[in-house]
Amino acid sequence: MDLQLSGKTALVTGASKGMGLEVVRVLHEEGVRVVTASRTISPALAETGAVTLTGDLSLPDVPARIVTDALGVTGTLDILVNNVGGGDTGAPGAGFLDFGDEAWSSTVDLNLYAAVRTTRAALPALLDSRGAVVNVSSDSARRPQTAPLPYGAAKAALNAVTKGLSEEFGPRGVRFNTVSPSSTRTALWEGKQSFGADLAQAMNVTQEELIAALPSQMGMLTNRFIEPREIATTIAYLVSPLADSVHGANWVVDAGVSKTI
Ligand SMILES: NC(=O)c1ccc[n+]([C@@H]2O[C@H](COP(=O)([O-])OP(=O)(O)OC[C@H]3O[C@@H](n4cnc5c(N)ncnc54)[C@H](OP(=O)(O)O)[C@@H]3O)[C@@H](O)[C@H]2O)c1
Repeated sequence: MDLQLSGKTALVTGASKGMGLEVVRVLHEEGVRVVTASRTISPALAETGAVTLTGDLSLPDVPARIVTDALGVTGTLDILVNNVGGGDTGAPGAGFLDFGDEAWSSTVDLNLYAAVRTTRAALPALLDSRGAVVNVSSDSARRPQTAPLPYGAAKAALNAVTKGLSEEFGPRGVRFNTVSPSSTRTALWEGKQSFGADLAQAMNVTQEELIAALPSQMGMLTNRFIEPREIATTIAYLVSPLADSVHGANWVVDAGVSKTI
């Protein structure tokens, strides 16, 4: 299927690894000119040939600078993928009283404000191009008991912001949608210093044992972690003109973890 994306321009945040890197690869395959933003440039990202910008997107002034620099290279912007998120969300099992203001702030800065600030800076260009935006949230937004509370709350706020943006800017030609993955095989789970490593330690199992057992424990009907490419292809479809009538949706890619209708 031709996603009709050839010749378009995109900015993808959090693109040095994981889902963001896979989004860059898929968009490149579709003929999109991609600019990326992350703190570091991994060898895998450099290999994609994307225009790579660096900065800490959790800081207030960085998203606007990244958008200005991206537009300096491309001149236009058709697609924005606010993928950056995660971060140090706290020890597994930590409860409400374990999180002080600093932990709340850093989680909200990365998982909500980075998308808010990047979108604010990119909107004039997106209105010009009648563009499309996907914000990457999490199934934890709907099931806040399954993740550290500041993370689930920040993602729930991101869902609300995306819906509000859709209502405000949809009539002016910009489409906003959310993609909400469940457990996806990235450094967040597989990294040596990661949420997955900490959770395995807390459960007194190896990281490999955790990754093998978690899908069925969570009720994932595939009995495996989601692959980053599965999220990336969903995002590529949502930013394509083929999805022109998909506005303000929250597409959950969770292998059936959510048991409600
Ligand atoms: N993996 C999952 O199971 C899962 C499930 C649900 C939702 N999600 C969400 O999906 C998105 C992608 O997650 P992922 O698992 O692919 O994450 P990941 O593998 O940890 O990658 C995160 C990316 O964001 C960049 N990044 C992190 N902090 C940054 C900062 N302050 N400024 C700029 N860039 C930063 C990282 O690059 P640098 O380190 O080079 O900056 C990296 O490229 C996140 O929003 C996450 O919350 C993930």
